[in-house]
Amino acid sequence: MSAKIIDGKAVSDLIKNEIAEETAQLQKKGITPGLGFILVGDDPASQTYVRMKGKACERVGFYSLTERRPTETTQEELLDLVNRFNVNPDIHGFLIQLPLPGHLNEVEIIESVDPVKDVDCFTPYNVGSLTSGRESFMPCTPAGVIELMRRSDIDPSGKHVVIVGRSNIVGRPLATLLSRKSEGGNATVTLCHSRTRDISQFLRQADIVVAAIGSPEFIHGDQLKPGCIVIDVGVNRVNVPESEDKRGYRLVGDVHFDSACKIASAITPVPGGVGPMTIAMLLKNTLIAAKRKAGIIQ
Ligand code: GUN
Repeated sequence: MSAKIIDGKAVSDLIKNEIAEETAQLQKKGITPGLGFILVGDDPASQTYVRMKGKACERVGFYSLTERRPTETTQEELLDLVNRFNVNPDIHGFLIQLPLPGHLNEVEIIESVDPVKDVDCFTPYNVGSLTSGRESFMPCTPAGVIELMRRSDIDPSGKHVVIVGRSNIVGRPLATLLSRKSEGGNATVTLCHSRTRDISQFLRQADIVVAAIGSPEFIHGDQLKPGCIVIDVGVNRVNVPESEDKRGYRLVGDVHFDSACKIASAITPVPGGVGPMTIAMLLKNTLIAAKRKAGIIQ
């Protein structure tokens, strides 16, 4: 058996085209959705992510504004910058790229974002709204996973979904969304993590595996149930000789792709799976924020 490859890049391109069309309509009414980015320090992966998000804005016709600050930036300076985004009328949504340098209080910074502009869905208000089923924004990566499944005709209803990884960004909110009583949900969810005893016993039972533990090739094909669906959220840089890749690294997921392909019925690749969907969902949230501000939707 060789698994079907779920092409997240192609699906995200479709969504971006839909967003670009809607943006063109909004622009006729004088509205240009605006998305802001705050990047502190020089983490190479974060720089790449912010650049890619900025390019995605250009592609769909959004205004974007990136504020870069050095590693030594103080808590007060960063809070002041967040507040400037909070009150900037051209910015409908913005995010602080994580992780922040260690001396900064990440919780306090996130809490200072106006929930109306919190397109990452990281503020306590929006996390609480999501948990109680009245979300104003869907968190981008979990929403990307659900939308990718929906557009690939994978219905999690009644299935056993095993999520590996309990992060606030992916595992936890995804468990909330997949287990809720609505379209794209209704799954039986098991949330595994680094302290789970014998992860294999859970993986063996999974109809759908979501890998989001941040450990390169953590899950192997021989742990999976034949015919299962594998959604790989991991993006790990693995060093390789420059003769193999001129960047000196290659990207691998949290799943050992080649062995999983032999057992699963469908799998998302890394790169080109969930990653592009996350960016598409970020754009979608910004579009929603712009339409709310204009009174077009609630
Ligand atoms: N760092 C890793 N993932 C994310 C994300 O989804 N949003 C932000 N702001 N930072 C991240």
